[in-house]
Amino acid sequence: MRRLALGILGSGKGSNCRAILEKIRAGELQTDCRIVVSDVAEAGILAIAREFGVPAVFLSPGKFRTKLEPETESQLVRLLRDAGVELVVLAGFMRVLKAPMLEAFPHRIINVHPSLLPKFPGREAWTQALAAGERVTGCTVHYVDAGVDSGEIIAQREVAILPNDTPDGLHMRIQVAERELFPAAIGELAQKCTGETAQARSDF
Ligand code: GAR
Repeated sequence: MRRLALGILGSGKGSNCRAILEKIRAGELQTDCRIVVSDVAEAGILAIAREFGVPAVFLSPGKFRTKLEPETESQLVRLLRDAGVELVVLAGFMRVLKAPMLEAFPHRIINVHPSLLPKFPGREAWTQALAAGERVTGCTVHYVDAGVDSGEIIAQREVAILPNDTPDGLHMRIQVAERELFPAAIGELAQKCTGETAQARSDF
């Protein structure tokens, strides 16, 4: 069967990326990862990509803090296209994507976020959930649109908030859930996209 070509983007330690690459290696996720790109030169995610033999590219982000420069984003589009990427996977990528990427990969960019969206978009969602006195939070896989963590929801997993939870402890448990939910959601999309029927493909 044809395997969906992934490109993974991340800014951090890369635990979600590792979970995806491990599942691919174990034959449990029928996709190929063609490239990993980071806006942070020393990000752990780049070392993980190299460990798995996946091309790892640092893309210097330019002068903005929360987005890429337009020319840099066009360069990102070229990198992903040259690698044959069909689905862009944001695994802790901490910049908002703009027109060049959204137009090049319509409905083909997904993100994992550490809350039950639409609650607590943005940074440190687990700290936001604790501060709001929630008893349950979780993680969400969603399509990326022009907003911040606002695109159509694909899958969610709940995580209980325990009495006396700390931000770090809660984030760690959410990340355990992410490492199950994200590869599973990618697998389902891959099945749809490489499905036998035109209907299955258009559902992707
Ligand atoms: C993950 O917890 C992910 O949900 C979060 O960054 C972390 C990356 O961890 N993403 C966001 O908050 C996006 N809004 P990782 O580098 O270990 O995969």
